[in-house]
Amino acid sequence: MIIAIDGPAASGKGTIARRLAAHYRLPHLDTGLLYRAVGAAALEKAVDFEDVAAMAGLAEGLDLAALDPESLRAGPVGEAASRAAAIPQVRAKLLTLQQNFAHQPGGAVLDGRDIGTVIAPDAAVKIFVTATPEARAARRFRELAARGEKVTPESVLEDIRKRDQRDSSRTSAPLVVAADAEIIDNTALDVAASVAAALAIVERRR
Ligand code: CDP
Ligand code: CDP
Repeated sequence: MIIAIDGPAASGKGTIARRLAAHYRLPHLDTGLLYRAVGAAALEKAVDFEDVAAMAGLAEGLDLAALDPESLRAGPVGEAASRAAAIPQVRAKLLTLQQNFAHQPGGAVLDGRDIGTVIAPDAAVKIFVTATPEARAARRFRELAARGEKVTPESVLEDIRKRDQRDSSRTSAPLVVAADAEIIDNTALDVAASVAAALAIVERRR
């Protein structure tokens, strides 16, 4: 069983994906971390984001086991990831790894932007998780402030809007709702209710 969870920044897709993976004892891949790793490497090595070959080179041979989720969740890395993710040659380098993860025997849970549309259009379950930009920004602000980052609610909302716009308008694998996806708008839901809604969808679909 492949479970595809897509949605915009800070919608709670990762939280849902982790809980479903634990519930069904399936391996889980947060595909955002791949783009965050490329974005972080570009910042660190001062690679020009316009240099397509150099950016694709950073995505080549990315080692899943070597990724450090903690450092990759830093605020500025989200913006860098979104810029890297708009480059088709970067996406192409990360495609096989994600497709292989999705299609391993027994199934898997993946969350990102294009799981139900590009990585695993054959997924048995597709869920699109969303909430208003304001609700998502409030969640992300709490997370970043707790990490000690110097952010304001306004700067985080601005970042979320900018990323939504870039992720939805790019030509390569834009953020769109798959035709056969079920939508969970969790603007007014807490984590428990949001996870319960996802579990109900999986039970109905599988
Ligand atoms: O957690 P958050 O939603 O803020 O970000 P993320 O899922 O870690 O993704 C970071 C960026 O990677 C996004 O803004 C997208 O541009 C890109 N991404 C993508 O293009 N395709 C995916 N499957 C996952 C992430
Ligand atoms: O993976 P994504 O960026 O979409 O979001 P996340 O990391 O799963 O969740 C972002 C934050 O929203 C976390 O601190 C969650 O605890 C919180 N949250 C949620 O996931 N679901 C709700 N219904 C309400 C809050």
